[in-house]
Amino acid sequence: MINIEELRNMETVPQTIVITGANSGIGFEAAKFFAHKGAHVIMGVRSLVRGDEALAYIEEEVEKPQVTLLELDLSSLKSIDAFAAAVKKTVTEVDVLINNAGIMAVKEGKTQDGFERQLGVNHLGHFALTAKLFDHLALKARIVNVSSQAHLMGSFDFDNLQYENGGYKPFKAYAQSKLANITFTNALNVRLKDKSIKAITVHPGVAKTGLFGRKEGVLAFRILSPIFGLFAQPASVGALPTIAAAIHPSVTAGELLGPKEKGHKGYLTQNDKINPIALDKKAQNNLWTHSERLTGVTFPL
Ligand SMILES: NC(=O)c1ccc[n+]([C@@H]2O[C@H](COP(=O)([O-])OP(=O)(O)OC[C@H]3O[C@@H](n4cnc5c(N)ncnc54)[C@H](OP(=O)(O)O)[C@@H]3O)[C@@H](O)[C@H]2O)c1
Repeated sequence: MINIEELRNMETVPQTIVITGANSGIGFEAAKFFAHKGAHVIMGVRSLVRGDEALAYIEEEVEKPQVTLLELDLSSLKSIDAFAAAVKKTVTEVDVLINNAGIMAVKEGKTQDGFERQLGVNHLGHFALTAKLFDHLALKARIVNVSSQAHLMGSFDFDNLQYENGGYKPFKAYAQSKLANITFTNALNVRLKDKSIKAITVHPGVAKTGLFGRKEGVLAFRILSPIFGLFAQPASVGALPTIAAAIHPSVTAGELLGPKEKGHKGYLTQNDKINPIALDKKAQNNLWTHSERLTGVTFPL
């Protein structure tokens, strides 16, 4: 059990933390938390202008935060390459990599490299980034992949992974990409068996962030966005499973950490409900092979 107060009061945190999508929502709240604790936070941001605005908010609360803003567009392998190179120039090693950035239920579209947009940004981009940073991870580093309960509704059709043969539905593609996040965690842990690095998945619960109202999103989600906002938890609470996955000593490889349960308000859920597909070795290997082939990136394992 992870006690939320204990988490907030933890004094020692890893030194270097890389967060993707760190200018908004859960990524921003996590960046602010770690900046408060004195870590060097590398904020991966799609827009440096939005990154600067986010940093200004952090500076209102934290005196002289150790924050580096670096440009990262997960819809471009070239940008991912440049970001990884810049991280390596900035720090000697990375203690925690938080693969957080995401888009939800957007209209059908392609990334700059021609991947289906949600699989491309949410999974393939993070797969490539993790591989590129792998030889720069600290001995006991953690890799935190931000998934969603939507992964429970996901499935893989490896003959139509990017809806090349039709059948694209915005939420179905989101669920698939979030299933890919957790399947990737598990496939990575299998390959990391002789190392002390561990991969962990989190789901934030429903949190009030930018995810629901984005202009790329389908109309239904944009209309429903204010309604979600009524019952959603604040982004700072939605960030707690991510923070716990990054720093809590009790967290083990392959856990799925979720938000607090009703009736157990002071605690986060551990080993939450996992879609059996994410535990299936064949699905893990298939996703791994497709991800390597599509991105052209391999892990130095
Ligand atoms: N909020 C929830 O209720 C909820 C529930 C389940 C799971 N999640 C997951 O939580 C994660 C964070 O989402 P959030 O809720 O905090 O939403 P958010 O406020 O919309 O934040 C998403 C972040 O991802 C960035 N991003 C989007 N496309 C990108 C790209 N191509 N390259 C780099 N960065 C990109 C956004 O940058 P810009 O600001 O520049 O667009 C933003 O910083 C996502 O993985 C999401 O699936 C959220």
